[in-house]
Order: sequence, then structure tokens, then C-alpha cells
Amino acid sequence: MAAKAWFKNRLNDHYLLKSRADAYRSRAAYKLEEIDQKYRLIKPGQKILDLGAAPGSWSQYALRKAKGKARIIAIDLLEISPIEGVTIIQGDIRDPENQKQILELAPKGLDLILSDMAPDTTGVHHADTENSAQLVHLALDMAEKLLKPGGAFVAKVFEGSEYKELLDRTRKLFGFAKSFNPKASLNRSRELFLVAQNFKQKKP
Ligand SMILES: C[S@@+](CC[C@H](N)C(=O)[O-])C[C@H]1O[C@@H](n2cnc3c(N)ncnc32)[C@H](O)[C@@H]1O
Repeated sequence: MAAKAWFKNRLNDHYLLKSRADAYRSRAAYKLEEIDQKYRLIKPGQKILDLGAAPGSWSQYALRKAKGKARIIAIDLLEISPIEGVTIIQGDIRDPENQKQILELAPKGLDLILSDMAPDTTGVHHADTENSAQLVHLALDMAEKLLKPGGAFVAKVFEGSEYKELLDRTRKLFGFAKSFNPKASLNRSRELFLVAQNFKQKKP
């Protein structure tokens, strides 16, 4: 095994063991932790939307970082066991009824949208990256409807030919947008995270 792959695998074991010790529902928490440590996104008092939230470790991390003082709406196709302080919706974010419910839960807007959504993979690279890009476009649609000026956005993307268009769209909506590749991502995965800050004021 190449040295880099060996090192990444050891790191993965490390994150798995650490998530058990830290009582996180998944090792994915450490990806958000790395992103947050670099970009300082999560603060007490925020209203946050967590898309693709099951089993719940991003919501857990966000709540801990906000010292229990964030209000979080979490949605996933899968059931999420209750987390105090988190409003959970079980359903598909592509369903307009679920989008409407989220709009109603955040009448004054959101400070931060997180999306760790991942489509079921087909094994066909182009299909997987296209499905992932569609989910990110949906998360950006939600950002356009719900983010307060100055708000922030994080979304997982499977890297592919659609990425440039996603980055271009994000750059139009935000003052700052970059790609980030956390150490906690699995070695074999081709995921990266789009991180954006300073959502621009909507034109009247
Ligand atoms: C990597 S997991 C999320 C892990 C989560 N961030 C955590 O820390 O526990 C990706 C999730 O995206 C969800 N997902 C994929 N497509 C979705 C959709 N259209 N609507 C809602 N959730 C979706 C999947 O059900 C899956 O649970």
C-alpha cells in the first residue's frame, strides 16, 4: 500500500475511535469541525439548516460549538433520533412540501446552511457527480430563499465536470467561495466541500 493511502487509513481509524469517545453519531462530525476551525462559521445564537443530516453528527457538532444556543432545522430521507434543540424533518429536500415547511420554520431567515447530502452512488462516475451537483444546486436554491445577508454555506460535492458551474454560481451569490478537502474525508472518496461566506444582499 502506498504510504499516503496507509496514512489516510490510519487517520480514518483514528476518527472512528474518536467519534465514539466524543459521543458523535458519525465520524463526519470531524469534517465539519475542520471546516469550522478554518472558516469560523458557527457561533451562538445562529439559526442553521442541516441538509442530509442523518444520523446527526453535524447537528451535534454545531450545537456543541454554539454552546447549545443555536436553533437547528435538520432534514434527511432517513430517520434521525431526537436531538435536543434540533427540529427534525424526515423527508426529501426535493419535495416542495418539505421546502415549504423549512421556509415556515425560518420566517426571519438563516445564518448558515450546511449540506452533507450525498446521493446513492451508482458506480457510474458521471451519474454520481451529476446527482451530487443537483443536490448542491438545491441547497443553493434554499440559500437564495433563506439566507440572511452575510450568511454562510457549506456543501459536500462529488468532484466532477459539474463542479466549475457550481463554484461559479456560488461565487455570484457570496462574497467568498472556496473548495476545502478535509483530512477526515475517506481516502477513496472524491468528495470536497464548497465553503462560502458573506451571502450578498438580494437585489430588490
Ligand atoms: C453522509 S450522510 C450525512 C451525515 C451527517 N452529516 C452526519 O454528520 O451525521 C448523507 C445523507 O444525505 C441524505 N440525503 C441524500 N439525498 C437527500 C435528499 N434528497 N433529501 C434529504 N436527505 C438526503 C442521505 O439520506 C444521507 O443520510
